[in-house]
Amino acid sequence: MPARLVVLASGAGTLLQALLDAQTDPGFPGEVVAVVSERADAQALVRAARHGVTAEVVPMADFEDRGAWNRALADTVAAHRPDLVVLAGFMKILSPEFLRRFQGRIINTHPGLLPAYPGAHAVRDALEAGASITGASVLWVDEGVDTGAAIAQTEVPVLVGDDESSLHERIKVVEREMLVHVVSELLTPPRASAPGFRA
Ligand code: GAR
Repeated sequence: MPARLVVLASGAGTLLQALLDAQTDPGFPGEVVAVVSERADAQALVRAARHGVTAEVVPMADFEDRGAWNRALADTVAAHRPDLVVLAGFMKILSPEFLRRFQGRIINTHPGLLPAYPGAHAVRDALEAGASITGASVLWVDEGVDTGAAIAQTEVPVLVGDDESSLHERIKVVEREMLVHVVSELLTPPRASAPGFRA
């Protein structure tokens, strides 16, 4: 049985799409069983529906405070029994309570070479700092903002004439490939040595 992935996404969902495309390979060890967003207009929801994947919206405005929203979001995610929760362009901070419920099972992808440029404007911040190299990181999620341990990172050069949009698009090409690779590695159990084999 493939491992169960629940993807949280707020926007275009091209990272989600990379996972949906990867799982058409029968050798891919995971399956996206649900996509959850806080935004009803997230294109990621349309991508999920197109692939027959359950898409759910938990809008913050429906709850009296962030705590109640986090609990509802966590209940929604938990109902899909995830082996791994993937934040793929999810633009809200999750509460410590949410994180505890899925401890050791939440990863995020970020368009910056952490610890440089954490937060919601990593690409703009790299350009404003005059960086010649930036990149992307896939990391474990902890209670800080983009402070979890990095699982994989890839550099992307900043080109003359780059603006936020052109640089972000090039970073996302790298991010998609890296995310699929990391998810696949995390879900693949280590191979037992062949009987009689001695290293
Ligand atoms: C990605 O670059 C992702 O790293 C970023 O949003 C983009 C989503 O792209 N996430 C963050 O900045 C989180 N801090 P997508 O909607 O096309 O998948």
